[in-house]
Amino acid sequence: MVGRLDGRVAFVTAAGGAIAGAIARLFAAEGAKVWCVDIRQETVVKTVSDIESSSPGHGAACVADVSDEASVRKAVDDAVARFGKIDVVVNAAAASEAVGDVVEMPFAEWQRVLNVNLSSVFLVCKYAAPHMRDAGGGSIINIGSTFGRVVVPRRPGYTTTKAAVIQLSKSMAIDLAHWHIRVNSISPGAIETARLLDRHPDMEAVRERFVPKHPIGRLGRPEEIAQAALYLATEASSFVTASDLLVDGGYTAI
Ligand SMILES: NC(=O)c1ccc[n+]([C@@H]2O[C@H](COP(=O)([O-])OP(=O)(O)OC[C@H]3O[C@@H](n4cnc5c(N)ncnc54)[C@H](O)[C@@H]3O)[C@@H](O)[C@H]2O)c1
Repeated sequence: MVGRLDGRVAFVTAAGGAIAGAIARLFAAEGAKVWCVDIRQETVVKTVSDIESSSPGHGAACVADVSDEASVRKAVDDAVARFGKIDVVVNAAAASEAVGDVVEMPFAEWQRVLNVNLSSVFLVCKYAAPHMRDAGGGSIINIGSTFGRVVVPRRPGYTTTKAAVIQLSKSMAIDLAHWHIRVNSISPGAIETARLLDRHPDMEAVRERFVPKHPIGRLGRPEEIAQAALYLATEASSFVTASDLLVDGGYTAI
């Protein structure tokens, strides 16, 4: 059977995490070669071993800090050296940040969150886009959040960076269209991942707080975000650019 990403090379950041890990696995299941980037070696190696044991595609692990310019440049160069090109980019890295209002939050923490959540997107696109041009074009998919559209208390860094990721995606979509590069963001609602446990005692507490805010009546799953990313990565979305795809169970509609 022909995979929807046969012959494609994807560069996926945060691939050791829940959502980008699901994206990397689905892309490889559809035939892609996936360059899996994360700052945590153990989890990104696990994603790659899952891919290698069950997918027609391939994976390779790259340990890198995507908020650091030299690291990003090297990660992109290494991806091209290994797989020959880049067709698809997914930016999904996000810092676990301290909770607090603008008065409480140390400036250094604000800057760290901006670097990991936002500057990483700028850097990865800056260095990957010329390779995508050389490959004839492609698709960039940046992970935003419903909290880039509506605000949640005491998380000024997160909400601001996610709004900026959505706007940066539109800005790049306009500027890179002449290279046949489409750029879109995905804004997930609350997705049942360990990330949500940073700010809650257990998943039951997460569900109690967030399920009532999702008209669909449950939290989302990483695989549901991966399906949206697959749509944006393939020709099924060939006329879609500069869009923010809400995959939020209706959260922002009410
Ligand atoms: N889980 C949710 O409910 C939810 C909702 C909306 C948006 N999102 C977004 O989806 C994305 C993935 O979230 P997740 O729930 O899978 O979280 P996760 O914590 O499972 O994954 C995040 C990954 O980013 C990696 N990372 C952090 N800093 C990095 C850096 N400097 N360089 C390289 N890698 C780095 C971490 O090691 C981790 O593997 C994030 O951008 C998050 O903001 C998540």
